[in-house]
Amino acid sequence: MSDFNEVTATAAVIDRMSGCKDARLKQVMASLVTHLHSLVREVEPTVEEWMAAIRFLTAAGQKCDDKRQEFILLSDVLGVSMLVDAINHRKPSGATESTVLGPFFVAGAPKLEMGDTISRDGKGEPAYVSGRVLDLDGQPIAGAMLDIWQTSSDGFYDVQDPSQPEMNLRGLFTTAADGRFYFRTVKPSSYPIPTDGPVGRLLLALGRHPMRPAHIHFIIGAPGFEPVTTHMFVAGDEYLDSDAVFGVKTSLVVPFVPHDDADGAEKRRVGNPYYTAEHDFTLVSKAK
Ligand code: BEZ
Ligand code: FE
Repeated sequence: MSDFNEVTATAAVIDRMSGCKDARLKQVMASLVTHLHSLVREVEPTVEEWMAAIRFLTAAGQKCDDKRQEFILLSDVLGVSMLVDAINHRKPSGATESTVLGPFFVAGAPKLEMGDTISRDGKGEPAYVSGRVLDLDGQPIAGAMLDIWQTSSDGFYDVQDPSQPEMNLRGLFTTAADGRFYFRTVKPSSYPIPTDGPVGRLLLALGRHPMRPAHIHFIIGAPGFEPVTTHMFVAGDEYLDSDAVFGVKTSLVVPFVPHDDADGAEKRRVGNPYYTAEHDFTLVSKAK
């Protein structure tokens, strides 16, 4: 028998898993123990520092409920969510890149007709968003479903703000044979991720801001194609280079072009002045 000490610790814990029948669990836990032990060897935490880490994780767990997931937020601000996303969604060139889902997706958005508005309270600067859903050969995809959600112009999702109507700024659209989509909305604004918990306190302690650049969320799927969870980011936003959750990809940054044009506004059924944003999404066939 050998004593458990700084030298033998890692092998001792890994050896103890020799009876594990789940090969993947064994691989993941052996790697976790190896990296965790190296971290401890590298930073040599005091007992008080280790207890602070335990208190942080405890507070993260206590902050979670059916609407709030502090561990996902932790994974987001540490870049783990985007790394897992990148590994799981390696795509051919030309395909729309994916990004974080975030905690504010709500299943069951209202089904709308093309051209409808997703703004139920009409508050904010009018915007008209359009584009096409295409395959990798540039052909339009009919029957593509776009599940869309965004913040109000004050930077809050409906689920965070009781003053907004339910399902405000959410909608589900289906493309026709031309693959086109178009809807009316308001220009989204940049907003802070929730900071009233341990993850917010960590960001503050690290000298980091909690802001996400303005964006519209999309989940786009079509029969025979891989679905993509993505965003349309507003070009020029001051937080594009420092997104708190590392979700920005250059290919997803879209100009919101300002217009002061009463005829154009009437044609698009938006107030004047207004913005237009146009962007095509490209899906990868499941067969490829
Ligand atoms: C969001 O874009 O809704 C979001 C993503 C990650 C963390 C918090 C919010
Ligand atoms: Fe968001």
